[in-house]
Amino acid sequence: MSNNALTSARQSLRLYGRRKGKRLRPSRQALLDRALSSIRIDIDKEGVPITPKALFTDMVDAMWLEIGYGGGEHLAAQANTHQNVGFIGAEVFENGIASLLRHCEEKQLTNVRIFDDDVRALLPALAKGSLARVFLLYPDPWPKSKHAKRRFICPETLTALAQVMSPGAELRIATDHPAYARWCLQHGPVHPCFEWLVTGSADWRTGPADAVATRYEEKAIRAGRKPSYFTFAKTVF
Ligand SMILES: C[S@@+](CC[C@H](N)C(=O)[O-])C[C@H]1O[C@@H](n2cnc3c(N)ncnc32)[C@H](O)[C@@H]1O
Repeated sequence: MSNNALTSARQSLRLYGRRKGKRLRPSRQALLDRALSSIRIDIDKEGVPITPKALFTDMVDAMWLEIGYGGGEHLAAQANTHQNVGFIGAEVFENGIASLLRHCEEKQLTNVRIFDDDVRALLPALAKGSLARVFLLYPDPWPKSKHAKRRFICPETLTALAQVMSPGAELRIATDHPAYARWCLQHGPVHPCFEWLVTGSADWRTGPADAVATRYEEKAIRAGRKPSYFTFAKTVF
């Protein structure tokens, strides 16, 4: 897709979540002003399609994406453990972006790039088959059925993800909301490009062995809610 086509596709997207919350503390604002520009992905400047090689100066063996990383603690922990992987974090919420920047500075991570906008605008700009793993952890559940069309998982986003995932790449989803869990099972296994990797009732209750708890997950467990974990593998496209 050309840059012009990407710009008009981007303009047609409607985002339902918030971009700004509490005013940032001066130190966080200063961090945002100082550190974001060097790792921010600007689709117009990168040149499309965006490849891992274009994004990361150090050689990376694979590229992983986390959608809606919130405070960024999961992404930073994964990036620290897998320094041979290039990470893209997509988040629209300013406080979350500043929080990930802090984690990156504290851990001195050089394998993270940030897309500070709606991830649906990024997906068509990425090179086909370029993602080896995608995390969607505790997406906004939009629990009322009249808001179900706002949920991130839907046939269109699954198709957009399938285009940029390599064969066998995993889409890992976690949710603490029973309606969203049902929704994932209504959409994931029937999509022609995804296969649900499930071996029994235990794995979708316990999650992958290398999972790192996010802030929402900790909150959900403290409140007595049981998370569900789904891993879908990209098949063909
Ligand atoms: C419920 S929070 C979960 C945050 C984090 N994953 C966690 O588990 O702690 C959902 C996050 O997704 C972000 N988000 C929602 N839609 C998005 C989109 N289209 N692109 C990027 N981020 C999005 C929101 O800003 C919010 O921070």
